[in-house]
Amino acid sequence: MSSPSSALPAVANAPVLSAIAAEIGTPVYVYDAALIRTAYRAFADGLASHPHAIHYALKANSTLALVRLLRTSGAQADANSGGEIEVALRAGFIPEQIVFTGVGKTADELDQAVSLGVKAINAESPGELDRIAARAVALSTTVRVALRVNPDIDAKSHPHISTGLKTNKFGMPLAEVRQLYRDHARQPGLEPVGLHIHVGSQITSLEPLTRAAERAVDLGRQLRDDGIGIEHLDLGGGLGISYDGSPVPTIAEYAAAILPAVTGSPFSIVIEPGRALVGAAGVLLATVIDLKQYEGGLRFAVLDTGMTELMRPALYGAYHRIVPIEPRPGDLVPYEIVGPLCESSDIFGRNRMLPPLEVGDRLAILDAGAYGSAMASTYNRRPLPAEVLLDAHNHDATTARRHDGKAWRVIRRRQTIDELLSTEL
Ligand code: LLP
Repeated sequence: MSSPSSALPAVANAPVLSAIAAEIGTPVYVYDAALIRTAYRAFADGLASHPHAIHYALKANSTLALVRLLRTSGAQADANSGGEIEVALRAGFIPEQIVFTGVGKTADELDQAVSLGVKAINAESPGELDRIAARAVALSTTVRVALRVNPDIDAKSHPHISTGLKTNKFGMPLAEVRQLYRDHARQPGLEPVGLHIHVGSQITSLEPLTRAAERAVDLGRQLRDDGIGIEHLDLGGGLGISYDGSPVPTIAEYAAAILPAVTGSPFSIVIEPGRALVGAAGVLLATVIDLKQYEGGLRFAVLDTGMTELMRPALYGAYHRIVPIEPRPGDLVPYEIVGPLCESSDIFGRNRMLPPLEVGDRLAILDAGAYGSAMASTYNRRPLPAEVLLDAHNHDATTARRHDGKAWRVIRRRQTIDELLSTEL
């Protein structure tokens, strides 16, 4: 018979995670550079037969060192705000490598993108096309634009992260796009070069992504018939990862699912993956700070991390596996794994079967590389957590620490309470 704890997934790099938690403290995010490089390579290899550009969606995790890592791996950038454009530039991207997306762009953000000359602004509405044109004319330049199309496709993902239904706020309805290009995209200041489609996130069935690509190709051809020089189709991001260990489509399968739609077409493709590049590469380390059990009731393990550091469980009911870094011997028992915040939704997992825990034990919350640190807040005046990168390459020998043959370095130190308060007058 297998030991009770064999039901738990093993934590990769456990000795080095323990060393990091001991030295840096918790909560701390730890990312594995090798996994990010491998995921990037899988996209690049999968799409190799067709002209393509892989624009990392910074919103998934815009910590500078990770954005740089993706740039040096060969990625380009998808920015969703003026702040993300700035991060992309500081990470070394040139404007021609940045696409700028976003359901609402302020006048300042449009000015920033127009004056930089980004690769494309993904426009959301006829009004926005007009505003971009006006800024371009005022600055005596021409801006490359792609209109975001809402294809009315159900991505079968969580309702909060599905974007391609006509009830969602994103883009313009497919049936109206041809007319919109005729009426709004041919004005001075605009160079319509693409179409943009993104149907949602954490998509684990490839069929909606294939269908979206087919619709983009059809529409792109119609626009070319109208004399509009569409060059690229931006198919967005959206490929999911496995949060519970069950099989999901691989990056290679994703590539194989969209390539038939575009092969033989005159269009190059842009994709904007976020989660699939960084999600599985990150863990959030925490320490058990309290344990309690109601009489005959639930057994709670309170962590020093909560929805402030990783909001996904509280916001979407998202499942993340949770494992002790160094499991104690003993039978598995059910725990409510909760955070320290004054919110009932601040729960990481209910009824989690874990070996016995003691105060001071370290847990790893898995698959936290995407939409973890990027969505962190300082609610309850909790400073933002530290972040660490494990990387065998590109380490300055003077700054990298080593443990168990692994090199690591702090890529974002823990915010201090003074820094948190520094903007207040
Ligand atoms: N492109 C656009 C236009 C997007 O809106 C998104 C994500 C992406 C690309 C990247 O999608 P990905 O490849 O990462 O699925 N906070 C949520 C996810 C929100 C996704 C928003 N848009 C979560 O934690 O699940």
